[in-house]
Amino acid sequence: MIEAASAEGTALAWEVAAGLNARPRVLPCRLLYDSVGSALFEAITLLPEYGLARADRKLLRQHAAAIGAALPRPSVVVELGAGSARKTRPVLAAIPGGFAYTAVDISPEAVRICRRALAETPGMAAWRGVVAEFLPGLEQAAAERRPGQRLTVFFLGGTIGNLSRDAAAGLLRGIHARLAPGDALLLGTDLEQNPARLLPAYDDAAGVTAAFNRNLLVRLRRELGAQMDPAGFAHEARWNAAERRMEMHLRAVGEQAIAIPEAGFACRLADGESIWTEASYKYTAQETRHLGATAGFEVVAQWRGEEWPAAETLFARN
Ligand code: AVJ
Repeated sequence: MIEAASAEGTALAWEVAAGLNARPRVLPCRLLYDSVGSALFEAITLLPEYGLARADRKLLRQHAAAIGAALPRPSVVVELGAGSARKTRPVLAAIPGGFAYTAVDISPEAVRICRRALAETPGMAAWRGVVAEFLPGLEQAAAERRPGQRLTVFFLGGTIGNLSRDAAAGLLRGIHARLAPGDALLLGTDLEQNPARLLPAYDDAAGVTAAFNRNLLVRLRRELGAQMDPAGFAHEARWNAAERRMEMHLRAVGEQAIAIPEAGFACRLADGESIWTEASYKYTAQETRHLGATAGFEVVAQWRGEEWPAAETLFARN
């Protein structure tokens, strides 16, 4: 037990050291989602500036009946990066004849919260939580499929935006490969729009997104014994026009030192130098359909937000 934990710690220490050595310096965005980070992200979904979450909730509520009716049956919904799954509930409740549900998330705390949030959902025949990354989690769910059951993968909330466009295409191919004919995928994407509205969405007035970003450093200090001063880093949101993505960075305010004794690593950041912690790629509605199609899926339907441009696209795996 202790050995396993320290081996994990060491792998993380090496991964973090390698990222901090790279140019630009980078930290993997999945590290944003420990239990504190997952809770801070839940708070982000309530922010007036973060229109994506509101658009998502609204789309899924407004079109719940249409989406529910279009899913293959009897359905096992496998939600990747489930988080609290609060936004998912209306669609689940609208699946005719009920459904089984599997939450896949890397945060055990998120999986617990999800279970409570979905506890009383009408029609839910079974609930399962899998603490895993996306594809291994989907594989586990697929291995437990009973004859006749259809899998529907829910990948909502624009989570796919965290991946590069190539990696996103690769992930969709990976999902396709783990599904069987007759299965489906419901994909949520945040659509391209004026950066003037995106920037405050990633740099809110209450400072929740800043706390979410900085928590990554606090976490490394706690879990790895990494040495640095999280308060010496400022949150920065940037629109990268060439790549059509939002970026979060942590910018050194004054010279900052970081050490990870476990990996024998130390570095210094000059004043203003930054660590890239997250990418949120934006898509057009058509690009989203194309992304699924090139992975082998067939487009069934697409629903788009009016007030904030986001899309839910339903694909069939034929
Ligand atoms: C959960 C990945 C969709 O990229 O918009 C929110 C995470 N980061 N504010 C996003 C996030 C900063 C979010 N996703």
